[in-house]
Amino acid sequence: MCGIIGYIGSKRALPIVIKALERLEYRGYDSIGVLVYDQDKKIVYLEKQPGRIQEFVKTAQLDKEGNLAIGHTRWATHGGVTKANAHPHWDCANKIFVVHNGIIENFQVIKNSLVEKGHKFRSETDTEVIPHLIEEFLKRGLEYKEAVGQSLKIVKGSFALLIFNSDYPQLLVGARFSGPLILGVGDNEFIFASDPTPISLIAKNVIYLDDGEVVFVDKGGSEAKASYTIESFLGHEVAVKKGVIDFEIKEADKGDFPDFMIKEIFEEPLALGNTLRGRLILQEGRTKLGGLEMIEKKLRQIEKVVMVACGTASYAALVGEYFFEEYAEITTEVDLASEFRYRKPIINDKTLVVAISQSGETADTLAAVKEAKEKGALTIGVVNVVGSTIARTVDAGIYSHAGSEFAVASTKAFTTQIADLVLLMIFLARDYSEYDISGNSARYSEYDISGNSARYNPERKSKERKMSLVMGRRILEELNQIPKKMRVVFEDAEKIKALAEKYARCKNFLYLGRKYNFPVALEGALKLKEVSYIHAEACPAGEMKHGPIALIDENFPSLVLAPEDSVYEKTVSNIQEIKARKGKVIAVTTAGNQDLEKLVDDVIYIPKTLEMLTPLLSVIPLHLFAYYLAKKLGRDVDRPRNLAKSVTVE
Ligand code: F6R
Repeated sequence: MCGIIGYIGSKRALPIVIKALERLEYRGYDSIGVLVYDQDKKIVYLEKQPGRIQEFVKTAQLDKEGNLAIGHTRWATHGGVTKANAHPHWDCANKIFVVHNGIIENFQVIKNSLVEKGHKFRSETDTEVIPHLIEEFLKRGLEYKEAVGQSLKIVKGSFALLIFNSDYPQLLVGARFSGPLILGVGDNEFIFASDPTPISLIAKNVIYLDDGEVVFVDKGGSEAKASYTIESFLGHEVAVKKGVIDFEIKEADKGDFPDFMIKEIFEEPLALGNTLRGRLILQEGRTKLGGLEMIEKKLRQIEKVVMVACGTASYAALVGEYFFEEYAEITTEVDLASEFRYRKPIINDKTLVVAISQSGETADTLAAVKEAKEKGALTIGVVNVVGSTIARTVDAGIYSHAGSEFAVASTKAFTTQIADLVLLMIFLARDYSEYDISGNSARYSEYDISGNSARYNPERKSKERKMSLVMGRRILEELNQIPKKMRVVFEDAEKIKALAEKYARCKNFLYLGRKYNFPVALEGALKLKEVSYIHAEACPAGEMKHGPIALIDENFPSLVLAPEDSVYEKTVSNIQEIKARKGKVIAVTTAGNQDLEKLVDDVIYIPKTLEMLTPLLSVIPLHLFAYYLAKKLGRDVDRPRNLAKSVTVE
């Protein structure tokens, strides 16, 4: 979604801003625009156009001097993808320029009143009201900073924005309310950015802005040092939040892969290994999660878990819901973050709200966290991007350590999120009680490889959450083996590619799975439609006969997740039902199970593991299938149409 960049300092600003915009490309965008101010000539240069940065740098005039520049990548919300709607937007007098990420919800009312006062608008965007509003306040005699503050008070919605006024050419203004914005502080130079990715171009030290804060960066005169002041336009006390970007953000590099998506799929074993590193205490069947230590006491008191997330992250949450209830026996619900606060959820100080997000910037998930905090819930984040807004808003967290995801479609984030949730579940289930060193837990006496043995002991006290040493150890040992087992699935990549090509002409797909693999079916269908634009839908296999089976014919294939688990026989019955209607079936099952060969059209095998961990393996063929099929159709897999990596508007 929109990316914003601003530079003010002593270097030529434009190349820095262009490079920084390239680093934000992965967020998804449809237009680009830049503004440079040449202090010597006192001239503002502005270039904007729909399309990609690569075309922009070829066609736009980018040889301009100037030590101040702002840049923007737009992901259209209000108004089509046109030059007029690309940012920056400016006022009637051509002096005040704004780039914006977010949505101004009350823009129409403001626009109507400004039009009545004679303001002329050039675009269909919500953003354009901001420069005109500031202009209006200046006309009424307010000082510039006051005019900015008043305007920010009036606009409602979510925003991160940069403002430049050529009457105050030494100032660059940044403000945020529910939109991401970070200020990088270099040596007498500053860089604003939507996320940490471009900050390292000039700075390591950062200032995280809070909602309702506006920062005025002043370049100072020729002798003076550049400086900044932060104020609140909502009247709260400002406590400056400093941080350090102490990790080197690698340049987006595809290595030997043709696309980021396939690179990131192949990185899933490595990413998972990084998620687990240093967190498994195998001997004790426990997990070490440093980020949760400070809230451990509160965690012991929670009675319910609510997971909030969007898209792929919400499917990881659904997998978590199954094992939280089965193994930790904690009531667990999954809420789509976009619905969470509108349905008045019943949560209180005994509720643990787990926000799952790769980017850590998803507006709906962030809003859900804020809602949960207001209601007194304990909040933790399962977040990939270090220092992101959600990571900083929650009470505590567990980073995913998946590494940067540049492809718009989430892949390695999904598997690492599930792994993080396993670690959290064990942290809750094992650490809640004394360890039973003998392994003879009151709850679980046995287990087998399919994991169908989480035997419930009715005599156990309802609030005594206790997982045996043996069970904790078993799960963690098996989790530790998953990266190796994932690599086995990759050995079949060519076979999966051939399958994807075989089915590439189909216009529809049905994805089915039960229990732990129902969320995997959702993830597989989402991935296919995102990158190939083919219609795919998923449902629990047991639901098929309540409606979706009407769709089945010889041209409507089903991808069925059928590992040998506790629901295997039932899933096989569903496959039979599809075959009886001449539907084609691709099945994903456990290695060594030959039974499906005769029944289905194509089979993909995954190694044996615990039932609760099968999603970590069964999703790999689905990620590969979506990728290869989309490639066969010539799609831009890394930047599918209409999608954004970081969804920062509700
Ligand atoms: C799917 C996808 C999206 C994201 C969703 C949440 O491939 O990428 O569905 O999973 O937008 O994003 P995060 O995890 O950044 O909160």
